[in-house]
Amino acid sequence: ETDIPSVAETYADDFPIGAAVEPNQLSGLTAELLKKQVNSLVAENAMKPDAIQPSEGVFTWDRADQIVKFAMDNGMAVRFHTLVWHSQTPNWYFLDEAGKPMVDETDSAKREANKKLLLKRLDTYVRTVVARYKDDIKSWDVVNEVVEPGDPDGMRASNWYLITGTDYIETAFRAAREAGGKDIKLYINDYGTDAANKRDRIYELVKTMLDKGVPIDGVGHQTHINLLSPSVDAMLASFNKFKELGLDNIITELDMSLYTWNDRSDYGEDVPQDVLLRQAARYRELFDALKANKGLVSAVTFWGIADNHTWLSSFPITRTEAPFLFDKYYHAKPAFWAVVDPSKLD
Ligand code: G3I
Repeated sequence: ETDIPSVAETYADDFPIGAAVEPNQLSGLTAELLKKQVNSLVAENAMKPDAIQPSEGVFTWDRADQIVKFAMDNGMAVRFHTLVWHSQTPNWYFLDEAGKPMVDETDSAKREANKKLLLKRLDTYVRTVVARYKDDIKSWDVVNEVVEPGDPDGMRASNWYLITGTDYIETAFRAAREAGGKDIKLYINDYGTDAANKRDRIYELVKTMLDKGVPIDGVGHQTHINLLSPSVDAMLASFNKFKELGLDNIITELDMSLYTWNDRSDYGEDVPQDVLLRQAARYRELFDALKANKGLVSAVTFWGIADNHTWLSSFPITRTEAPFLFDKYYHAKPAFWAVVDPSKLD
């Protein structure tokens, strides 16, 4: 549709509006929709560690470059997702020089040497990537999903943590700052940041890091929400808590599932109109709150753009999902009007 308003223009005085994309979405109808509706992009998969350095010393930039080029050609910002993650990270990182998994090492001297080697690999990676994109990309997810309240010490028991403790987090942020300068903003990104135990563990981690001089600029809140939870109040409470530490808050992966957490049902082809209206009301509540609390959240990125392409349609089961403002035919949904011009819904 070309005759509808633009979400990015509607919120131009509040925050940039972004969308996650795959390189193959940068032509045709999706490209046209993106150009009109958003002013920021993030790679859904193309800037993850396995995409950029599949084996040691082999850097594959093509797909990441395509996204940066499209954004630059169309006057859009780009976010980087993600320098460090436990998932989509090739296994070579975690093997010692003899090819043995570092986590299996029992000798303490060898464990120390392995830790040094892994941190060196990380340092090299971060500096290489930041140096390449620092002029075009100003917003960086440095670490993703490192806190897990159910794991020992509340830290996700990933290879990174098991081999280096929290040193990998420190190394990644310091290397990113040194390679990119103060001009790039560095984020710790996670999901479920509204839940008190997760939120408080992230807070504690960030506070400890800041006290040590680790350069963290803000918290990325993924914000994969559904029709019922979390409440907007819980989200605001989390943003406010991190703001008290002097940190920036951004919403990095917004989408709204039609199903509650344990629900395994499927609406099939035609999602009932009342469900779409409930979704619209909730999107409106969220955006109204963000607008009313000016500056509390400085950027909003959706984890996709239209309902034909979303990770949710295969998670936790394969079924119809419709988490965005545009439907699978790229038409504006009630949720679009709810955030752009609610009078159209009355
Ligand atoms: O590229 C291969 C392809 O070659 C192969 O034929 C195909 C068969 O399954 O798989 C393709 O890889 C898939 C990849 O997406 C690209 O489509 C992976 O299987 C699939 O697991 C992967 O899923 C991504 C997921 O992260 C991985 O954990 C989703 O697209 C992506 O939306 C999702 O994004 C994450 C954020 O990074 C972090 N926060 C949560 C968010 C949602 O899970």
